[in-house]
Amino acid sequence: MKMELVTLIDKLAEEHKLSKEEYITLLTGCGSEEAAYLAEKARAEKEKYYGNNVFIRGLIEISNICKNDCYYCGIRRSNPNCERYRLTEEDILECCREGYELGFRTFVLQGGEDGYFTDERLVALLHSIKANHPDCAVTLSLGERSKSSYKALKEAGADRYLLRHETANEGHYTKLHPAELSWKHRMECLQWLRECGYQVGAGFMVGSPYQTVEMLAEELKFIEEFKPEMCGIGPFIPHKDTCFKDEPAGSVETTLLLLSMIRLIHPKVLLPATTALGTMAENGRERGILAGANVVMPNLSPASVRKKYMLYDNKLSDGAESAQAKNELEKRMASIGCTVVVDRGDAVK
Ligand code: 5AD
Repeated sequence: MKMELVTLIDKLAEEHKLSKEEYITLLTGCGSEEAAYLAEKARAEKEKYYGNNVFIRGLIEISNICKNDCYYCGIRRSNPNCERYRLTEEDILECCREGYELGFRTFVLQGGEDGYFTDERLVALLHSIKANHPDCAVTLSLGERSKSSYKALKEAGADRYLLRHETANEGHYTKLHPAELSWKHRMECLQWLRECGYQVGAGFMVGSPYQTVEMLAEELKFIEEFKPEMCGIGPFIPHKDTCFKDEPAGSVETTLLLLSMIRLIHPKVLLPATTALGTMAENGRERGILAGANVVMPNLSPASVRKKYMLYDNKLSDGAESAQAKNELEKRMASIGCTVVVDRGDAVK
C-alpha cells in the first residue's frame, strides 16, 4: 500500500475532514488495497453506531409525471417514450399495508414533480399513513416545493425528506439541467427542509457528464459542511431517451470509495447502497454495505408500474430489489455478516 494514502485515510478516520487537495489525492491514488483499507475503516466507524444492522426502507414510486426536464433523467417531461402513471391514494395506502406486513417501518414516497400532489392531497395522505402505521417513519422525495409546503407536510407527519443536490458545483449544475432550474434554489430548498425540522437527505450522482475529480472533492467538502442526515449517491447510468444517452456510466469503484469517505466524514450518516449501484454491479448493494453503507431501499411500488419508473436504463426492480423478496435480501446481507432489522432506522443522536 502507498504510505501517503494510508496516512490520509488514518487522518480522515480521526479528524473526519481533509482538504480538497487531500480528497483528490485519495480519489485518484487509491488502488484496490487502499480501497479495502478505507472500507475497513469505514465499516469500523459504522459499527460503532449501528453495529451490523442494515435498515430497510419501502420505496413507493407514486408518480412518474414530472414538470422538469433534467438532461440525465428518464422520466424528464420531454421523453415521449415514458409511459406516465400516477398512483391513487388507495394504491399508496395498500403499498404501505403490504410493506408493514413485510416488516418495513419506513415508507419513502418518491415521485417526479407532479402538480397533482398538492399540499392538501399530501397532507391527507400523510394523516392516513400515520393513522394506519403510527410506529412508522415517512420519508418524502418529491423534489422542490415552497417552504410553506415543506412546513405543512412536516406538520402532517412527514419525518424525512430526500432531495439530492445532484452536484455541489453551480457551473456543473447548469450543464445537467435546463435554465429554469437553479442550483441556488435547490440549495435553498435543502436549507428550508432543515429549518422545518426534517431529517434531510442530500446526494449526487457519481460520474455524471462533465464531472471532474475536483468536483467530487467539492462534494465531500459539501458533506463536511452541510452534514445531511442521509446521503444518496450512486453511479450515473445513461438513459436511452435523454441528452446523455451516449455518455459513459459512472464507476462502481469510485462510488464505493466515496461511500467509505462519506462514512468517515460523517460517521452517523444514514447511507444507502442505492439501486443504481445494484444495477451497475453484481452484488453492488452488498459491496456498498461493505464499503460503509447501512441502508437499502427495496421497491414497494405496485408491480404494474415498476418498469415505468425508469430513471436510467435497466433499472432493477425485481429480485432482491423488490420488497417482496425481503428473504433474499436478508440472505444476501447475512452472507456478509449483516442483519436486516425491523425498525424505523432513525439516525443515532
Ligand atoms: N443515472 C443515475 N441516477 C439518476 N437519477 C436520475 N437519473 C439518473 C441516471 N440517469 C437520480 C438523481 C435523482 C434520483 C431520484 O435519481 O440523482 O435525484
